[in-house]
Amino acid sequence: MRRIEYKTDAQLAWMARAGVITSRALDAAVEAAMPGTTTAQIDQAFRGVLAENNARSNFLGYYDYPATVCTSVNDVVVHGIPGEQVVNAGDMISIDGGAIVTDPATNKQWHGDSARTALVGEVSEARRELSEITRAALWHGIAALATARKVGEIGVAIEDFVRSETGDKYGIIEDFVGHGIGTSMHMAPDVLNYAARDLGPRVKKGMALAIEPMLVTGSIETHVLADDWTIKTNDGSDACQWEHSVAVHSEGIWVLTAEDGGASELAKLGVTVKPIPA
Ligand code: MF3
Ligand code: CO
Ligand code: CO
Repeated sequence: MRRIEYKTDAQLAWMARAGVITSRALDAAVEAAMPGTTTAQIDQAFRGVLAENNARSNFLGYYDYPATVCTSVNDVVVHGIPGEQVVNAGDMISIDGGAIVTDPATNKQWHGDSARTALVGEVSEARRELSEITRAALWHGIAALATARKVGEIGVAIEDFVRSETGDKYGIIEDFVGHGIGTSMHMAPDVLNYAARDLGPRVKKGMALAIEPMLVTGSIETHVLADDWTIKTNDGSDACQWEHSVAVHSEGIWVLTAEDGGASELAKLGVTVKPIPA
């Protein structure tokens, strides 16, 4: 059994630094996602912001992963590798990236992990809606964490939102899930993006969780390409992902990978975030 890493408020504050750098790097990556650019250029934009902030990439070299972001275009669900692929108007690209900062006092490394979907140029109404529902599903999952007794309530909230809003129109991927995060990118516990009978461990202060719903317009079956990374839908339907890393600290929750801690989005859902106490 993998153990959950419970963090002090001071440690979560280090994670917030990694989170803000991740968020700024994603700002640059999303801005770079223009018609005519390559996915490698999106990676360069992200990488540049990490360098400016003396942060390292947790993706680069992870099981030999060759880049600082995943760029997952259209029917790629996750783990698309940046390269010479040119981005065109009408494409949707999920950009997933992370940063590591080191606390010099302890030498511990703190991770951030977040994903957004960029809509390139004029995009179909179908893609716009897929991204918007996925984004809103993420925020509903985060909002649930604020009052959840168990981690699995996040997935219940995500699925309830998607079904109540759009019926059976979208599938929720089950082959990949969210995760605990802290001194590594992927830690216990699993954070499902769908409802399951087993609600998993109790929500406790000190937890940091990466919540990352992936929605598809068709079947949830996926396969991996010959590069051993790229995950596509079997039926070629579109896929979309949004992700945040979120802390449960001594006074409430804080979205580590949002500059405002998620305050503006969560206020719409009746949830008040609390800054991590200094
Ligand atoms: N950040 C991804 C996730 O959300 C994992 C990326 S694996 C990597 O969990 F190798 F591409 F870095
Ligand atoms: Co990620
Ligand atoms: Co993640």
